[in-house]
Amino acid sequence: MGEEATSQAKHVAIIMDGNGRWASAKGLPRAIGHQRGVEAVRKLVRDVGQMGIECLTLYAFSSENWKRPEEEVDDLMNLMRKFIKSDLPEFIANDVRLKIIGDWQGLAPDIVTMLEDALERTAGGKYILAVALNYGSQQEIAAAAARAAAAGEVTADTIAAHLYTADLPPLDLLVRTSGEVRLSNFLLWQSAYAEMVFVDTLWPDFTPDHLQQALDDFAQRERRYGGR
Ligand code: IPE
Ligand code: IPE
Ligand code: MG
Repeated sequence: MGEEATSQAKHVAIIMDGNGRWASAKGLPRAIGHQRGVEAVRKLVRDVGQMGIECLTLYAFSSENWKRPEEEVDDLMNLMRKFIKSDLPEFIANDVRLKIIGDWQGLAPDIVTMLEDALERTAGGKYILAVALNYGSQQEIAAAAARAAAAGEVTADTIAAHLYTADLPPLDLLVRTSGEVRLSNFLLWQSAYAEMVFVDTLWPDFTPDHLQQALDDFAQRERRYGGR
């Protein structure tokens, strides 16, 4: 029992990748892949409390994703609007506290307003769902270092204290779907000693069982943090 408790991942982050390839493989438009991706998120959020996870961080839109065709960016933003509207009551019912990381104030004003409302209405939740929107890790670190410098002292601790994730538990496990083995500017600082799991499953096919497998894998890892 005791051993299980120490190897439980508290903070899990996921790079949700492969929506486009999922759709292409089925001859469907990419937008359908993104829709199905939202359904995968929905199922996961329902189960996260039962998995012993305190914080789930999801990479939803990177600061580099603006490079995509305007139509795809619009589809993604519209999906976000729909998702917040439809799923906010369920977040509240599932004791989920929403957190947004990234430069989300730079999104469309109506989305910013919706997010502010969602943050306020989920503030009492127990399980943190941190969604990375317009997020770029290099930009996050640069801004944190600038703020640390302005406050007078630049150290690893003062930088960490200014990251978006300062109030979250340390990152235990990072999962990426779709077979890509890279971080794509996600949680670079926070991943210093995170365990990583890369799976071939495309995001729309990713289920709570897949996450449980990653957690089981994590439980077998020996974390040494440079010691021995
Ligand atoms: C992930 O799926 C969703 C976002 C990046 C918003 P992709 O759209 O990157 O899907 P692939 O990688 O092209 O298959
Ligand atoms: C990372 O996936 C961003 C999100 C999952 C939101 P990308 O599909 O944008 O990453 P690259 O371009 O393949 O590195
Ligand atoms: Mg991708």
